[in-house]
Amino acid sequence: MRCTYCMPEEDYEWLPRKDVLHYGEFTSLVELFAEAGVQRVRLTGGEPLLRRDLFRLIKQLSSMPAIEDIALTTNALRLRDHIQDLKNAGLHRLTVSLDTLDDVKFRSLTRRDGLRRVMAGIQAAEELGMKGTKINTVAIRGFNDGELTKLLSFAKERGIEIRFIEYMDVGGATDWKSTKVVPKTEILAILEKQFGKIEAIPKVDAAPADHFRLQDGTQFGIIASTTNPFCQSCDRSRITSDGQWFRCLYALEGTDLRTPLRENRMDDVRQLIQTHWSQRADRGAEERHGLDQRSAQGDDPNHPHFGMHVRGG
Ligand code: 5AD
Repeated sequence: MRCTYCMPEEDYEWLPRKDVLHYGEFTSLVELFAEAGVQRVRLTGGEPLLRRDLFRLIKQLSSMPAIEDIALTTNALRLRDHIQDLKNAGLHRLTVSLDTLDDVKFRSLTRRDGLRRVMAGIQAAEELGMKGTKINTVAIRGFNDGELTKLLSFAKERGIEIRFIEYMDVGGATDWKSTKVVPKTEILAILEKQFGKIEAIPKVDAAPADHFRLQDGTQFGIIASTTNPFCQSCDRSRITSDGQWFRCLYALEGTDLRTPLRENRMDDVRQLIQTHWSQRADRGAEERHGLDQRSAQGDDPNHPHFGMHVRGG
């Protein structure tokens, strides 16, 4: 897919194969992060199911006692064919990106046909009894702000938690304008009109979503990353497919972990993790708070590290 908020170009300079970490290398990195305290891993992208036999990576990760939670964010195009293997390999949870239930809109956003395959993927996961499935919906004014109630009903009927994400000015979101952001307050107002009073659920963890409850008990989330950035409590690390480590979606530079890893300098990788994590000072979303104009870099399709599709959501 080429969702316009994430990966707008048709032609990209793809990474040379030799630069891309193989599963054993990812596993080694995750082991080193686990030593430093990481307990939860999410495979995201881009589209993780484009990697061949992704279940093999999940199998390796799920054999690590320190890793308690393995999640996958996917566009679900190829989910139906792979869900059984993923589940058998030990995948705990799925998040499906779904921004519209309308065929024509789906095509205009993703520049691909495929809504039916996405639905089939969601259904297959349900039939296999996957628990904790979520839907990510980026709310974009003029695109799907009229569909938010429908999307919430869709999720509600399936016992899936939907999270509405404020449109972010990240690399690759070339069309971003502050006027297209639907703020959390407005998302709540739209939903209240349809569903009645909405109750806020107090925050208990470092998860980016604020949680809410409809009167019938249905829970959903809003990630107010644009109007109410949560940099202070963000505890995420991101490793790109070629082994660059980013502490922020907006950071201009990552830390190269691939070189020391491939030279078998594990203590150096440990040291890098320790030093950079303890010294991290990224405040990407807060720095952009209130800006009207697009400020993120990374719209160059030839740059391998800036785009949202590279960093992962
Ligand atoms: N703003 C907000 N969320 C985004 N995502 C991708 N691009 C953006 C953006 N510009 C989210 C999608 C996907 C997740 C990986 O990142 O919802 O599910």
